[in-house]
Amino acid sequence: MDDSRETSGKVIGVRRLKEAMAKPASTRIFTVANQKGGVGKTTSTVNIAAALAMGGLRVLVIDLDPQGNASTALGVEHRESAGVYEVLMGSAPITSVVQKVAGFPELDCIPSNTSLANAEINLVSMVARELQLKEAIDEISVNYDYIFIDCPPSLGLLTINAFAASRELMIPIQTEYYALEGLSQLLETYTLVKKRLNPTLNLSTIILTMFDSRTRLSNDVAANVRAHFPNELIDIPIPRAVRVSEAPSYNQTVMTYDPLSPGAIAYMQVAREIAERGRAKEPDLSTEFNSNVVSINYLGDNSRGSA
Ligand SMILES: Nc1ncnc2c1ncn2[C@@H]1O[C@H](COP(=O)(O)OP(=O)(O)OP(=O)(O)O)[C@@H](O)[C@H]1O
Ligand SMILES: [Mg+2]
Repeated sequence: MDDSRETSGKVIGVRRLKEAMAKPASTRIFTVANQKGGVGKTTSTVNIAAALAMGGLRVLVIDLDPQGNASTALGVEHRESAGVYEVLMGSAPITSVVQKVAGFPELDCIPSNTSLANAEINLVSMVARELQLKEAIDEISVNYDYIFIDCPPSLGLLTINAFAASRELMIPIQTEYYALEGLSQLLETYTLVKKRLNPTLNLSTIILTMFDSRTRLSNDVAANVRAHFPNELIDIPIPRAVRVSEAPSYNQTVMTYDPLSPGAIAYMQVAREIAERGRAKEPDLSTEFNSNVVSINYLGDNSRGSA
């Protein structure tokens, strides 16, 4: 699984799974949001992104939180470098702020930096301020199979920019008391954005984080979410696991820090399920007789004959 090489001091290595993950038909762009703090947005973003990259997909993480936790967890320099703030302000092209994440073949990160804390204020006076991120992402999205935007715990202009730039919304829900509190406000914002700003946005994915199967509470929250969101829920809860919380202090995801730990295994399964749900559909030729098929065969035969 691990075949890495050193490039200019950084391991640019190749951590790949034996069994590749399904490619989507087109780039899937996710906002990972929940205005409740500490529910596992960043942890889920970086670990699912890492798992998909290990599955052979091209993945970009955009750290849209001034706290910079996703950048830290991915081991990407983010204090000195230009990052997503400069992109939002139009002072740096998006291609110039993309950084490679060490240890993965095709995992990139656009880091946040401390200036991002001023973004909400500075964006207010700008024209098309809700669309700054979308316009930038449009330039590079073809280079990726998956893009994840890790949001701060608020529903301000940064999160709105993420909503406007995305096709899908992923909501991590912590399986604890008050878990569903605030969810209605998030869903209202989602509905409003869908109506006014981005009709293609779709709440596609809900994941349960910090699950403790021994507690009645975790199971109750899971049952509640399952009842309300049967299609959106990925029913593979992420267990509360100490290795998951340790990994960021080593500038790693748990996928590399301890790939066989229960948290890593769960995130791997969730990532695979996300990839399966987004699998590019093969055209089904078996159900009906289709004249195109005949013409394809005919052309094939013809070219073989004339060669
Ligand atoms: N499955 C887990 N097991 C144990 N600890 C976890 C797990 N998931 C997340 N944590 C820890 O919980 C805390 C909050 O997680 P995280 O930073 O991912 O949440 P967040 O929603 O991004 O927070 P914020 O709202 O501040 O951006 C972190 O310390 C993280 O390490
Ligand atoms: Mg976070």
